[in-house]
Amino acid sequence: MLREAFDWIRTPSLPLARRSGHLGEFVAIAARRQRNAAAWAGHEARSRAAVMRAAQAGDPDGTALILGAGHVNDVPLEALSGRFRSVVLVDLAFSRRTRRLADSLGNVVCRLHDVTESLDALAEIRPPAAWLDDPSIGFVASVNLISQLATVATRHRDDAEAERIGCDLGEAHLAWLAAFSCPTCLVADREIEILDESGAVIATLDPNKGARLPEGDEEWLWDIAPRGEIDRRYSVRHRVVAVDRINR
Ligand SMILES: C[S@@+](CC[C@H](N)C(=O)[O-])C[C@H]1O[C@@H](n2cnc3c(N)ncnc32)[C@H](O)[C@@H]1O
Repeated sequence: MLREAFDWIRTPSLPLARRSGHLGEFVAIAARRQRNAAAWAGHEARSRAAVMRAAQAGDPDGTALILGAGHVNDVPLEALSGRFRSVVLVDLAFSRRTRRLADSLGNVVCRLHDVTESLDALAEIRPPAAWLDDPSIGFVASVNLISQLATVATRHRDDAEAERIGCDLGEAHLAWLAAFSCPTCLVADREIEILDESGAVIATLDPNKGARLPEGDEEWLWDIAPRGEIDRRYSVRHRVVAVDRINR
């Protein structure tokens, strides 16, 4: 707990990440990952591999734009840094470890930015525009981010409003990704599954609140909360998809 409080103070983030309570969640996720390292390892490795596979289609003389990079656990940062002229990491917050790693690689920068461009004005959600007019962008990856857009935006909203805002943010994110002229990939939770003690799925939820993800080129399961993490009897896993090129 003390460690988390310390990280909360020291983690570079946008003011809205602190105001909204997101920074607390950002810091807590690092502790959750540590507790569930074995259960998360496969998901992180597959995410990194999917991003690198998609990156082969990107222009190596260009910049790789990596969205939702925060802790870079599921981002193949060294490999991207070696493949592209430069790498821009984008998130509401970055761990100090990510900052150190970025500095050590020389061609990686961290940009604090709200990728929805709407968190300050949720009444008017529009497709974002950032980087679309930047001809140096040679590859874009949205990495385990899209379902988090709704979580951050709707923390203090009622269910119906949260569904609407979450869906609109998800659809706007997909439209933004599709508008890039360079290869653009998506790694995303498609479904949340709740399992009972016998391992049977007893409920499924849509983490994207109705935003329609494209068909995946690959799919896997992420044991995000094994039994004991959030409940004694129930566990939670996510069905994750990788779409190699969203803007074919
Ligand atoms: C589940 S984490 C993804 C894991 C991350 N790729 C990693 O390697 O640790 C989702 C990330 O999305 C970021 N995020 C959520 N909403 C965002 C927004 N509106 N703009 C930018 N980043 C956002 C969070 O801060 C978090 O780092």
